[in-house]
Amino acid sequence: MQTVNDIRTTFLEFFRKNGHEVVSSSPLVPRNDPTLMFTNAGMVQFKNVFTGQEQRDYSRATTSQKCVRAGGKHNDLENVGRTARHHTFFEMLGNFSFGDYFKENAIEFAWNLITKEYGLPADKLLVTVYHTDDEAYSLWKKIAGLPDDRIIRIPTSDNFWSMGDTGPCGPCSEIFFDHGEHIWGGPPGSADEDGDRFIEIWNLVFMQYEQMANGDRVDLPKPSIDTGMGLERIAAVLQGKHDNYDIDLMRALVEASADFTNTDPDGLHNVSHRVVADHLRSTSFLIADGVLPSNAGRGNVLRRIMRRAMRHLHMVGTQDPVMYELVPTLVRKMGGAFPELVRAQALIEETLKLEEQGFKTMLDRGLKMLDDATDGMDEGAILSGDVAFKLYDTYGFPLDLTADALKERKIGIDEDGFSTAMEEQKAKARAAWSGSGEAATEEVWFDIQDRDGATEFLGYETEIAEGVVTALIKDGAEVKSAAKGDEIALVANQTTFFGESGGQQGDSGIIKTEAGAVIEITATQKKLGTLHVHLGKVIEGDVKVGDAAEFRVDHARRSSLRANHSATHLLHAVMRKHLGDHVTQKGSLVANDRLRFDVSHPKPVTAEQAALIETDVNRLIRENSEVSTRLMTPDEAIELGAMALFGEKYGDEVRVVSMGLPEANEHAYSLELCGGTHVKRTGDIGMFKIVSEGAVSSGVRRIEALTGSDAANYMAARENVLSTVAADLKAAPEDVPARVKALVDERRRLEREVSDLRKKLATAGSAEASGGDAFKDVNGVKMALRALDGIPAKELKGMVDELRDQMGSGIVALISNDGGKASIVVGLTEDLKDTYSAVDLVRIGVEKLGGKGGGGRPDMAQGGGSDPSQADAALAAIEAHIAG
Ligand code: ALA
Repeated sequence: MQTVNDIRTTFLEFFRKNGHEVVSSSPLVPRNDPTLMFTNAGMVQFKNVFTGQEQRDYSRATTSQKCVRAGGKHNDLENVGRTARHHTFFEMLGNFSFGDYFKENAIEFAWNLITKEYGLPADKLLVTVYHTDDEAYSLWKKIAGLPDDRIIRIPTSDNFWSMGDTGPCGPCSEIFFDHGEHIWGGPPGSADEDGDRFIEIWNLVFMQYEQMANGDRVDLPKPSIDTGMGLERIAAVLQGKHDNYDIDLMRALVEASADFTNTDPDGLHNVSHRVVADHLRSTSFLIADGVLPSNAGRGNVLRRIMRRAMRHLHMVGTQDPVMYELVPTLVRKMGGAFPELVRAQALIEETLKLEEQGFKTMLDRGLKMLDDATDGMDEGAILSGDVAFKLYDTYGFPLDLTADALKERKIGIDEDGFSTAMEEQKAKARAAWSGSGEAATEEVWFDIQDRDGATEFLGYETEIAEGVVTALIKDGAEVKSAAKGDEIALVANQTTFFGESGGQQGDSGIIKTEAGAVIEITATQKKLGTLHVHLGKVIEGDVKVGDAAEFRVDHARRSSLRANHSATHLLHAVMRKHLGDHVTQKGSLVANDRLRFDVSHPKPVTAEQAALIETDVNRLIRENSEVSTRLMTPDEAIELGAMALFGEKYGDEVRVVSMGLPEANEHAYSLELCGGTHVKRTGDIGMFKIVSEGAVSSGVRRIEALTGSDAANYMAARENVLSTVAADLKAAPEDVPARVKALVDERRRLEREVSDLRKKLATAGSAEASGGDAFKDVNGVKMALRALDGIPAKELKGMVDELRDQMGSGIVALISNDGGKASIVVGLTEDLKDTYSAVDLVRIGVEKLGGKGGGGRPDMAQGGGSDPSQADAALAAIEAHIAG
């Protein structure tokens, strides 16, 4: 038997031998198409190559492309499990020619592959061509030798393939396999064509045109080829099965589902096992491609698929989460062809387990409510929209899950009633917000959110992606278009721009519309927690609501933001290690050029501690361990030891960012709830440098730090300072500390010497020493009156003593200008103490010096003033007092 893996390999190998580049499947989230929710055909990744916008260094390619059809236009969700060929996930095998070969080779390759390599009997095959395509008709005749009755001309759009409303398109030719007379159905184009006897296995599209938005259809630069063959379908044919779920790969998944639930794969629960097999594939591949369950956009589609499978598992009768247990079987079967599945296995298992755990607690009660509500209802009855909404709102039942649960009993749902209930709830939320006083400025965001829903953020995965402009705001009001020079706010269905939140600044960058407008974005904000609002200026052309555009984040700035954000996580972990567990985050700012981190800590972080912290953060950076993100409930995250983030509001689930060993949380040295963007490995931070530490408020310290080139530049500037000092000192940098210490010591010694000399001069007693009037005779009393400079106040008393001794009998008054302040000391000898009072004399001086009071004993008193320039006046006043 040719297994699915053999069949894929044979296909790719056949085209490789025929000059085709084997190209990996592109991710399920398309980066180059703003309108597509998921990649749904092999040609999606080559769209721009067909139109000539993009060049590759090959002109022939072959792929096995992952495709998801759920959500959006192509939605197979509700049929899955109940039919032979519906899937939410499938692989499309394809070969592509970009202006190289055309119809003849395409038909020849296809015919040779299926009849020779795959060995299908020619008489079981028939083909269709577009009714006017005579060329294809005769090529099939010539190459395959098919008789006229097995080349069927089809006049409808079935044989004219287009990617969407716009994009590459052309007539196509399909190959059908006849499963035999025992199965009901007629050939394509016949009245019974919807039967299962003739199954389409391969579609060859002769890409010739590009459909433009204005309705024109223009020629592609060169005729090209795009083909698509469902791997599961061809495998069913080659394995002699009629049902895709019976091929080896799908059967293994069906059996795993039955094994883990101890049930019969083909019995009562067969539909459930088929649903599980299919949904396991779509959910696992979506998670591997970066989608995580959420309540909006792609994450919401993922959640709906997961929960649908989980309800089926629940019905089969399992108590514990079980879907995640099936992941190893899937990885065994498909991990060889899709290594991303192996890489993401832990994340897939964890995400499934978490979702199932959370959802299971709601399921029983929700299902009971549904049973009660539908008790006694007959086929054709309609469940009220209110009940369906309550199931959604309270029990987490997506609408399609409720529909699925009621399908067997043929009960419908009042979907309009459901929408009305949803609208009412939104209106209530809005009214609650109006009460908060911010309504006037936020009204416009509510309008946009209600109308268009949340912005999908693609920026964790990529910095460049396309989106559609859904709203433009100028001067606070919505407008339909904006012109060059306008300052605007722009909202799109999806974006790569991070909206400022959780302390991290928003992205800047460029938005370019397909029509040629360029908008320079300087900031991105987050409104109502769901809208990413791009603020900027139109610098070229006109932008209109509905325009498709490329969103390109400023890479350098984003890289710095990432490094600074990841560094705050490391800093947090390391501070707790060195300062203690009382350290918790009190706030943070992640800017592109610096980071600021506030923590609770009762005293200053010492220089030694800061050095230790810095060294340790740098050690973790050099360890270069993986930074991984996963989703969990806040409780679970906290249980694992995650540190809650300051000021964040949590929904049902939170992103948890861990650094350290990727697969084992207990070894992660940092685990935080965080919605920010982060480096892939800690080494990407490059370098970490603390530049300041200080107090914010009592018990809260603030650290400011730099990373990467900012840290390097800072260090270089520091080094430059050192070199300048070294050059001035004429010393080697390493000798600078010793030289500076010697200089400081020397300066101290000199200062002491100067002070001693001054003292000596002041007390020398000679006329020469004190400017001419050594001791004065005033009214028969000997007086020493001196204004001094730079003598410390505390030394004046000693000097007064010395002068008093020299005099034998007399009065000394010294005033010193000590650093801008006047100090005065007056002393008198024993014999004069009954006649004069040192305290009175000081007070006379102090008054002149702009001070108040002064005091001491009758023979020695002191005081001070703010105005040393009045020293002479003060001395004169004292002298005048003695003179009488
Ligand atoms: N692009 C073509 C399809 O999806 C082959 O059928």
